Amino acid sequence: MIIDGKKFAQKLRNKVKQEIQSVKRKTGLTPGLTVILVGNNTPSEIYVKNKELSAQEVGINSKVLRFKSTISEAKLTSVIHKLNKDKKVHGILVQLPLPNHINGSKIIEEIDPNKDVDGFHAINVGNLSSGKDALVPCTPLGCYLMIKNVRKNLSGLNAFIIGRSNLNGKPMAQLLLKEDCTVTIGHSKTKNLKELCKKADIVVAAVGRANLVKGDWIKKGAIVIDVGINRVEKKGGYKIVGDVDFKSVVKKVKAITPVPGGVGPVTIACLLSNTLKAFKTIHHFKK
Ligand code: GUN
Repeated sequence: MIIDGKKFAQKLRNKVKQEIQSVKRKTGLTPGLTVILVGNNTPSEIYVKNKELSAQEVGINSKVLRFKSTISEAKLTSVIHKLNKDKKVHGILVQLPLPNHINGSKIIEEIDPNKDVDGFHAINVGNLSSGKDALVPCTPLGCYLMIKNVRKNLSGLNAFIIGRSNLNGKPMAQLLLKEDCTVTIGHSKTKNLKELCKKADIVVAAVGRANLVKGDWIKKGAIVIDVGINRVEKKGGYKIVGDVDFKSVVKKVKAITPVPGGVGPVTIACLLSNTLKAFKTIHHFKK
């Protein structure tokens, strides 16, 4: 089974859209998302445009604030403080990476945790890891939802996550631990990636190494989620490939996400879902 991320994302967006219509009817208020984009990094421009359009499509008031790469940390902090107080804004997202002179993790801590739709604030990180309600980072949340859609009961399964980033690997581990998986995290210093991977019923690859995971790394019937977005040269141009060597792996799996068209669209749908969740928390809606 090849998981169709576009279709999955569309379903999730439809659900969010319906719920937004319902909260609008009940409150007369519209969920609002503000994305902060600093500088002119081309991939970031594309991601931000996609986020803005998808948010509008489901009825979220979305706005992008663009700043020159020379903006100071103090100015950026004051922009965030203003958005924290703005009653029309329920979600704040600072697109990463930020320029080198700005301390990204310090900036993230300035966001009101209730509006932190990326789930990167220490309060949300802590709540997720202690099993409390939290805003969960969009990419691992999307991966989790796709895994659960393939198999409802994950209890006791071996999950192998390749990559230990704060954005993906660590929150992914927390989500699968909550499902009673036996979670192992591999990374660039892990000595026996292949051997560990071969034991896994669930593999999430999020290391940024093109086609790293091969067919002979995979146990038959595993669920494989590919978070990688790697540009590789092809016939004078380039193409995007994942961290999983799709051609050799697809033959072994129960389910796999392709790149592109797998995790990517679902990540954006989860941002919309997180914005709705933030709105509901701020306005004390029942969960
Ligand atoms: N840059 C790449 N991925 C992400 C993400 O999930 N959130 C933000 N804010 N920036 C990113």
